[in-house]
Amino acid sequence: MEPKESLQDLFDREDEVRKLREGLSRERLILVLGLRRIGKSSLVLATLSSTGHPFVYVDVRRAYDDVSRRVPAERLYEELRSSLLRLSVRERVLEALRRMGVSLEYPVKVRVPAEEVRDGIAKAFDALNELGRVAVVLDEAQYLRYSTVGLRPLLAHVYDRLRNVTLIMTGSEVGLLHDFIGVDDPSSPLYGRYGLTIELRPFDEERSRQFLRRGFEELGVRVDERVIERAVEELDGVVGWLVYFGRLYLEKGADAIDEVKEMGAKLVKKELEEALSRSPYYSHIMRAVATLGRARWKNVVDYVTAQLGRKVTNATIARDLRNLVKMGFIEKVNDEYRVADPIVRYAVLKALPLSWQPAKGDLAMGFARACSSIGPSEVRRGLSLTTWPQQPLCQLDLVALIHEGRPFGPHALSAVGQYHSP
Ligand SMILES: Nc1ncnc2c1ncn2[C@@H]1O[C@H](COP(=O)(O)OP(=O)(O)O)[C@@H](O)[C@H]1O
Ligand SMILES: [Mg+2]
Repeated sequence: MEPKESLQDLFDREDEVRKLREGLSRERLILVLGLRRIGKSSLVLATLSSTGHPFVYVDVRRAYDDVSRRVPAERLYEELRSSLLRLSVRERVLEALRRMGVSLEYPVKVRVPAEEVRDGIAKAFDALNELGRVAVVLDEAQYLRYSTVGLRPLLAHVYDRLRNVTLIMTGSEVGLLHDFIGVDDPSSPLYGRYGLTIELRPFDEERSRQFLRRGFEELGVRVDERVIERAVEELDGVVGWLVYFGRLYLEKGADAIDEVKEMGAKLVKKELEEALSRSPYYSHIMRAVATLGRARWKNVVDYVTAQLGRKVTNATIARDLRNLVKMGFIEKVNDEYRVADPIVRYAVLKALPLSWQPAKGDLAMGFARACSSIGPSEVRRGLSLTTWPQQPLCQLDLVALIHEGRPFGPHALSAVGQYHSP
């Protein structure tokens, strides 16, 4: 899924384009916030290309190393370097850098001390500043949190001193704005320094409909309204999935929706696994929220407890839930949590391995411990909804029980025992 690079290819987003254009001539730091695949890179690249403004584009996620879970300074520098070499005014930057004693001719050797790399990055910004107005895009900038050299002071310096440089950072609201920039953290070097924030929301239903209809029209393809309606409903206005659906429709027809879900789930699986491996509880929490659709804090705790068959401290669940929100997987609306992206939700329900494979005894114990006062009939009703014993206890039963709004009682144990005695 390549970002769009021209305004003609951008559907809707007129307001955002206008704001970004205005910001470019006025602001020092612009934040473009939103979920993955919502169109952040496209907005930034298409708008910049349309202004003819020189810009440098660094995809921070490309510099992120899955294994060490860091952004090694030399990889970041390498991204910056190759982007500088693509700049139309390249010669002038190279010349400025040469004067500062930096050469971009060769990739950085791996064993350069981090401080030296940091110095190289700082000098690259100085050289850019000499060119006149220039924008530096740090795409998915929340990953800079994992940088092996502290970049916040450097970026604060760019903001304060390098008057020709406009920084554009994209990322998730919580990860970028709260964590990296530190909007509400006065001790953060970037505190109070941002100027303009542009938040990209999913398309509403009407926009999604129009987007699909117009796309198919352009291709001269007639599509049944019911198919469009289903796509609108299932893909929840995330433009990346809508584009993907459109493309698959040409090949697969009405099956394209299921195909988007399958292929999309594969695509997000890797992102999910990488992120969810960092805590033993992430996948349980994701599963809880995905299953329940919308979940209150208490529901999440009950569900996780039931899945694990033991209690996890509230502080641990609260911390992990907060992190999942930061990573953009879960969003909190009023007092309820939901999985932000419909395909991520599907992937979680379908593909995440169930790490809890209960034996009968565990099942009963899990129920019993998760609770204090639910009656045997509710337990029986809950269990009758599952396909036990073919499938390990997973979703429906717990949903049924949790939706009762009552925690399980001591009766649960005996009820479960009876239910399953041969
Ligand atoms: N406004 C838009 N109109 C049409 N297609 C879009 C639009 N915004 C994004 N896309 C497409 O959606 C996909 C995801 O967009 P991208 O800009 O990469 O999202 P993000 O950077 O937020 O992850 C890409 O295939 C891109 O071409
Ligand atoms: Mg992007």
